[in-house]
Amino acid sequence: MKRTIQLILGVGFALASVFASAQSNPAQVRSWAAGCANCHGTNGQAQPGMETLAGANKDDTIRKMSDFKAGRRTATIMHQLAKGYSDDEIVAIATYFASQKR
Ligand code: HEC
Repeated sequence: MKRTIQLILGVGFALASVFASAQSNPAQVRSWAAGCANCHGTNGQAQPGMETLAGANKDDTIRKMSDFKAGRRTATIMHQLAKGYSDDEIVAIATYFASQKR
């Protein structure tokens, strides 16, 4: 019985730490960023005519995304997409693209 309780507690703590680290988990951030690839190009390298995200200034990307989210910047699609990410997620995505080579 004691062993079972220890096991349950152990699994609980392991899960809690997985959730706690989700915010900064690089694989999670990469998968959010992959959602931008369809339109902005693989790894943020865009086709001509589309905005390249790779190597973009982090603060610029954060500002543009929050402007889209708040409706301050007119858009055909980005205002809807931006609403799907929390502010923390936007910071993580912007940081990710800023660290990519152009
Ligand atoms: C369905 C296609 C699509 C996807 C997916 C997409 N974008 Fe966009 N993005 C656009 C279009 C189109 C524009 C031009 C503004 C508009 O009309 O919405 C744009 C514009 C932008 C701009 C402004 C560029 C500039 O300097 O004017 C940023 C920043 C941006 N997107 C970031 C992102 C990020 C980050 C993601 C992923 C979370 C993403 N986009 C996913 C289509 C897309």
